[in-house]
Amino acid sequence: MHEAAPVNPWVALAYLVAGICFILALRGLSSPETSRRGNRYGMAGMAIAVVTTLATHHIASPIELAAAIGIGGAVGWMTARRIAMTAMPQLVAAFHSLVGLAAVLVACAAFLNPGAFGIAEGGVIFPVSRVEMGLGVAIGAITFSGSVIAFLKLNGNMSGKPIMLPGRHVINLGVLAGILGLVAYFTQDQAPWIFWTVTILSFVIGFLLIIPIGGADMPVVVSMLNSYSGWAAAAMGFTLHNSAMIITGALVGSSGAILSYIMCKAMNRSFISVIAGGFGAESGGGGAGGEKIDRPWKRGSAEDAAFLMKQAEQVIIVPGYGMAVAQAQHALREMCDKLKEEGVSVKYAIHPVAGRMPGHMNVLLAEANVPYDEVFELEDINSEFSQTDVAFVIGANDVTNPAAKTDKSSPIYGMPVLDVEKAKTVLFIKRSMGGVGYAGVDNEVFYRDNTMMLLADAKKMVEEIVKALD
Ligand code: TAP
Repeated sequence: MHEAAPVNPWVALAYLVAGICFILALRGLSSPETSRRGNRYGMAGMAIAVVTTLATHHIASPIELAAAIGIGGAVGWMTARRIAMTAMPQLVAAFHSLVGLAAVLVACAAFLNPGAFGIAEGGVIFPVSRVEMGLGVAIGAITFSGSVIAFLKLNGNMSGKPIMLPGRHVINLGVLAGILGLVAYFTQDQAPWIFWTVTILSFVIGFLLIIPIGGADMPVVVSMLNSYSGWAAAAMGFTLHNSAMIITGALVGSSGAILSYIMCKAMNRSFISVIAGGFGAESGGGGAGGEKIDRPWKRGSAEDAAFLMKQAEQVIIVPGYGMAVAQAQHALREMCDKLKEEGVSVKYAIHPVAGRMPGHMNVLLAEANVPYDEVFELEDINSEFSQTDVAFVIGANDVTNPAAKTDKSSPIYGMPVLDVEKAKTVLFIKRSMGGVGYAGVDNEVFYRDNTMMLLADAKKMVEEIVKALD
């Protein structure tokens, strides 16, 4: 056994404080009311960790470091300014791939020059460091290739549908067993071929695990890769003997895993099935449920919508991806303020996967200063639709589709949905009858007797309704 280098108690204390800040940040981010405070804790924790690391480590070239931070910071700043809110999921996937790649590069550097990391004696890497290195490179490579595939799918460069290889479970299990076996063997023999084979097999398994996942399961994939990126960072922390990285990585890893689990529960998916690479997703091919429904439907105007909502006792707003595309949240808030002045009770119903990223709708509504106490999660509001006069669906489709409850061939079958069809009247804003949602399926609610279609860009339509309410 090798002795770990003595840790400066002030450094340990600073990292501990940073870790506590990160825990408080996660706690703050669990509710919209406290999320700003949570972000501040996160920033403070990161500042403490970075300053401590810079101040207490021997840095070969401060100029090189400053240049790297400058270039990375500029790219990040420009990307954050330019990125459309609707493209956030692919941006997050791209960032995860960088964390994975960093873990791979750190492990490679440690393998090629273990002396520089203090993990070898006379060129022989300590067995415990070999385990850390093997697992680190494996998790990093899986995170990297998985995130690249998730990026390509979410960005539309690759079909979002699941790609099912024949015998994929046997192949996946075989490759995983091979990786674990080789990591175990690596503790006995530090031959380079073992390290590089683990690296290559891990890149391959990352790819194989993500290609069979698609459609409605993509949100879970993004949060799962978030979790992997955390474990990759923790593995890097072990190699670099940096407890702040271990703590941060473990927090990201476990919170991402908890978020994936919550999302799987919300979508009625098996957590194990999703992480095992779409195990049991055969019904999710997306073909069968895609036919257009050929039935008459009713078209309404902004004036009709204003009239109906003015008469209502309660209106439930159901926002979806189309609201984000149109950036209609501010106009929507104005419309709801006017309805409240008329004595109408207004509530917002948020589906856990509405939009394109976890919390997408909450962020947009918070940006428009919608009071938090008017915003309800699916399970807290779904029973209210049957006693509601108007369900006002703005740019949502899949999250209201009753086929999820009844049609086993539908790609969204099994996902809980908002029961908008139970309201006395359903108003649906979308741009055309031809457009479909993320899962690519038509929605039978469009053709019901109690539904009125408001066909226009969401922001334009809501602005017209606001005028009509005046
Ligand atoms: P979708 O089912 O994608 O439906 C969006 C609707 O908005 C469509 O009906 C579209 O019809 C309409 N629309 C688009 N632009 C519009 C505009 N400018 N004005 C008015 N309407 C517009 O959205 P959803 O109901 O929010 O469901 C989310 C889907 O995304 C789920 O299937 C979910 O699994 C998936 N997903 C979610 C996430 C996360 S984490 N939230 C991540 C990836 C995927 P038109 O084209 O006819 O206008």
